[in-house]
Amino acid sequence: MSEKSSEQSQLKPSLGLFDATAISVGAIIGAGIFVVTGIAAGSAGSALIVSMLIAAVIALFTALSFAELTFWRPVEGSVYEYTYMLVSPFAGFLVGWMWMLSNIFAGAAVSLGFAYYLTAIFPFLNANLVAAVLCIAFTILNYLGIRQSALFNNFLVMAKLLILSFFILFGTLYVNSANFVPFAPFELGVFYGACYIFFAYGGFARVAIIAEEVKNAKRNVPRAILLSLIISTIVYILVGIVAVGLVGGARLSGSNSPLTEAISIAGSTPATYVVSIGGLMATASVLLTSILGVSRMAYAMAKRKDIPQVFSKLHPQYNTPYYSVWIIGGLMALLVLFFELTRVVAISTFALLFYYTLANVSALRLKTQKRLYPRLVPILGVITCLALLVFILFASPQALIIGVAGLIAGAIYYVLKVVLK
Ligand code: ALA
Repeated sequence: MSEKSSEQSQLKPSLGLFDATAISVGAIIGAGIFVVTGIAAGSAGSALIVSMLIAAVIALFTALSFAELTFWRPVEGSVYEYTYMLVSPFAGFLVGWMWMLSNIFAGAAVSLGFAYYLTAIFPFLNANLVAAVLCIAFTILNYLGIRQSALFNNFLVMAKLLILSFFILFGTLYVNSANFVPFAPFELGVFYGACYIFFAYGGFARVAIIAEEVKNAKRNVPRAILLSLIISTIVYILVGIVAVGLVGGARLSGSNSPLTEAISIAGSTPATYVVSIGGLMATASVLLTSILGVSRMAYAMAKRKDIPQVFSKLHPQYNTPYYSVWIIGGLMALLVLFFELTRVVAISTFALLFYYTLANVSALRLKTQKRLYPRLVPILGVITCLALLVFILFASPQALIIGVAGLIAGAIYYVLKVVLK
């Protein structure tokens, strides 16, 4: 299914529960918590934590559906495969297409996030150019075949978690309860905030893409999906409380590097640097997995002749799908030059919600005696994902237009492909 299974089909499952969980935590924690927190705080104010909770519950329904699907059959390719098998090839194609769209925009978002944290340290740099250079640099890494080994990924995940733990513990000392006032958890802005911060939870199902490389996959992949979401949710809520407590929602929303802004109130230069380095590491590691993930999905879709064959062409020396890598990395680099962060986040989330909805539909259609959860779970998953999509319509109409245009382009491509065959 993926480049790995064709190149290295002899590979024995080698990843345990710890590695598998770390892969998803690695894909989750990035620009969302380090940067989008500011955008969400702009809508939700001090009630940011409520937005985070709403987003976490919505993510949980979908994560349970992913757990159900991977428990049924842990296949590489994940939601693209499941939708193909359980809904229809056309729906499967659209899921793969929107998966790529979502992750290309997510890659652009994390590159911009990286650039914002770097320009917080070196203000004379141009953020969009830094983001573009980063995209190209990571494209080259992926082209050369430098894969995130489980060990390297585990290191990055531990580093991110340690720095965020530092932010929570050190920041708590400087929390000012006055910053939580006014607290308006029932305002519409809280739902818009949930829409934006939902981006931060994306990635919990990343391990499902490489399910066949996980030991005892039927047991470990569903657990890794749920564990990674639980760990990230706990970290996010604590970071959210401390960040708001340090400087309040308004000041967070005025910054492109909100966690650095928050910790700077403590007046400790080393602490500010530590948090900035956390932002750089977290965003860079998500970018690495984004380019890798999208090129892998493109490879899988090309193998099935869903997109042009050139995307599955492997480099004779580096064994990487180099056309995929360059086209995807190049697209990300272009996006960061022309789009601003709020928009790329909203477009990525639109596409994410599209394929999450279909993951829930797939879980609902699963006809198996041994279900992990009642059918109510995927039904709630569909309803909540669609509800969030409606909020995107209001939060960022342009994102919705671009997202729908991407979807229609995919549908036209598919129809032409079938008609011209
Ligand atoms: N959830 C990922 C991030 O926040 C996309 O960077």
